[in-house]
Amino acid sequence: MTQTPTRIVALVGSLRADSLNRRIAEALRDQAPEGVVVEIASGLADLPFYNEDVDATQTPAAAAALRELVAGADAVLAVTPEYNGTMPAVLNNAIDWLSRPYGAAALSGKPFGVVGATPTPYGGKWAHEDAVRSFGVAGAVVVDGAVHSQSAIDVNVLEDADILGRLQAVVESLAAFQPTAA
Ligand SMILES: Cc1cc2nc3c(=O)[nH]c(=O)nc-3n(C[C@H](O)[C@H](O)[C@H](O)COP(=O)(O)O)c2cc1C
Repeated sequence: MTQTPTRIVALVGSLRADSLNRRIAEALRDQAPEGVVVEIASGLADLPFYNEDVDATQTPAAAAALRELVAGADAVLAVTPEYNGTMPAVLNNAIDWLSRPYGAAALSGKPFGVVGATPTPYGGKWAHEDAVRSFGVAGAVVVDGAVHSQSAIDVNVLEDADILGRLQAVVESLAAFQPTAA
């Protein structure tokens, strides 16, 4: 009998064509453990800035599609650099769309983790801390240990086995997450 795979949606915080963080997401997708599917959300750049008036009248197609994708996933992984000490606006905006409708948000109860790399010694840790807080406020469940901020100084993040192992461990912990009974 084949088991349904665990589906993890990756939200990439960089729109840059040659984004290191996108390539990290692609590596995690391509090397996902057996039984786990990592799907990179497309269309984050097509989301208009969140506006309650627009959401109340006609939710944009890109927002509706992202909500559907996340609602159908078992977990969410943000893969993001840091901009000016926090998350890039594209990721923050995605959280806003995914946090509504209030009480029925796509992110509600979703296990969440965040990884990313930047060319600083801290690897984007402020952005990742902010992502943890913001996704948590939006209703996601931050999985213990599912955060990794990687410095990209003097190392090829995509070819270093230790680093890839740490990034993959986050995917594994999301896939293995079991909610504790209330
Ligand atoms: C507007 C802007 C602000 C940035 N601010 C930070 C920052 O606060 N901390 C940091 O570690 N890197 C910062 N960076 C550098 C990015 O981390 C770096 O460009 C990174 O490679 C972007 O990720 P990407 O390769 O996935 O696009 C900033 C870059 C830009 C364009």
